[in-house]
Amino acid sequence: MKNFALIGASGYIAPRHLQAIKETNNTLLAAYDPFDGVGIMDNYFPRADFFTEYERFERHIDKLKRLGHQLDYVSICSPNYLHDSHIRFGLKNGANVICEKPLVLNPWNLEGLVQLEKETGKHVYNILQLRLHESIIALKEKVDNAPRDKIFDFDLTYIASRGKWYYTSWKGNEQKSGGIATNIGVHFFDMLSWIFGDVKENLVHLHEHDRAAGYLEFERAKVRWFLSINAETLPESAKKAGKTTYRSMTLEGEEIEFSAGFTDLHNKSYKAILAGDGFRISEALNAIKIVHKIRNTKPIGLVGEYHPYANKPLSPHPFHLK
Ligand SMILES: NC(=O)c1ccc[n+]([C@@H]2O[C@H](COP(=O)([O-])OP(=O)(O)OC[C@H]3O[C@@H](n4cnc5c(N)ncnc54)[C@H](O)[C@@H]3O)[C@@H](O)[C@H]2O)c1
Repeated sequence: MKNFALIGASGYIAPRHLQAIKETNNTLLAAYDPFDGVGIMDNYFPRADFFTEYERFERHIDKLKRLGHQLDYVSICSPNYLHDSHIRFGLKNGANVICEKPLVLNPWNLEGLVQLEKETGKHVYNILQLRLHESIIALKEKVDNAPRDKIFDFDLTYIASRGKWYYTSWKGNEQKSGGIATNIGVHFFDMLSWIFGDVKENLVHLHEHDRAAGYLEFERAKVRWFLSINAETLPESAKKAGKTTYRSMTLEGEEIEFSAGFTDLHNKSYKAILAGDGFRISEALNAIKIVHKIRNTKPIGLVGEYHPYANKPLSPHPFHLK
C-alpha cells in the first residue's frame, strides 16, 4: 500500500484522484486546500489529515517522515500556475508526483523539474488521460498503420459551456490558467502530437476570452481546431437537444466516435503510473510548447485554413461591457 498526499483537495477534479487512490488500494495520509469545503473526503479517506494552511501541511508531512511514514506520492489538483511549485514540494519531500494537466504553463519550467527529478531520484507523472481512451488509441493505430507519406485532414471542435463564474475564477485568468487553449485545449493538443508527430506550423486565427481557433500542421496531419466555453457557439442540433458540451473530431471528414469512455480514465492513469508506466515530463513537453506558442502568437484573423466555427459572431466579455 502506497502513502499519498493530495494538494487541491476541494476542487472539481480532486474526487477523481481520491477515487483512483482508493481504487488502486492505496491510502491518503494528508490533504491540503486553502478552501475547506472538503466533505467529499469522507467518501474516500475520512481518517486523512486535512490542512488549509500550506505551512501546517508542510510541517505535518515533515513530521510524518520523521515518524517513519514516508510519502510515496503527492497528487496535485491545484490551479495550473501553482503546479510547478507543488511538484517541487512533492519531489523535495522524497515523493513521486502525479500532476494534473497542464504540467506547467511554459516549456522552460520543465527544465528545472527535470533537474530536480535527477537530484531527488523521484519521478513526475502527468495525467494525459486521452492517451488511454480506447477510441483515441484506435485512432493512433489507424494513423500508424497508414502509409508513412499519408497526410490526414483533421478537424477538432470542442465546446464546453461555462457560466460567468469562469471569469471570476482562476480559470478565466490567463496568467493563472494559461487561457482557453491551455486550460481546455491541452489534452487535445497532446493527443494530436501523440498521434500525428512533430509540429511543422502553428497558426492562430482567433483568440478571445471565450474561444480560440487555429491551424496546426503536424508531420502526419493538417488540423483545423476550434475551442470554446461559450454556449452561443454550440451547433444548433446541440442547442435544440439541450446539450451544453459538444465534442467532434473528424478524420478525412469522417466523425470519430468518442462520446463514451471518459469516466474511468483517472483510475487507468493511476494504475499505469503505479505499474511504472506513466507519462513523464518529456512526454508533456510537445503539448506545452504548442499551447505556449498559441498563447503568445498574434491571431492572423480569418485567412487561410481556418475552422468554419471561427466565423461565428463574437460575444463581449461578461465583465468588460461597455
Ligand atoms: N484531467 C482532466 O480532465 C481535468 C479536468 C478538470 C481540471 N483539470 C485540472 O485539474 C486542476 C484543478 O482543476 P479543477 O477544475 O479541479 O479546479 P478547481 O478550481 O475546482 O479546484 C482547484 C482547487 O485548488 C485549490 N487551491 C487554490 N489555491 C491553492 C493553493 N495555493 N494550494 C493548494 N490548493 C489551492 C482551490 O481551493 C480548489 O479547491 C487544474 O490543473 C486543471 O487544469 C484536469
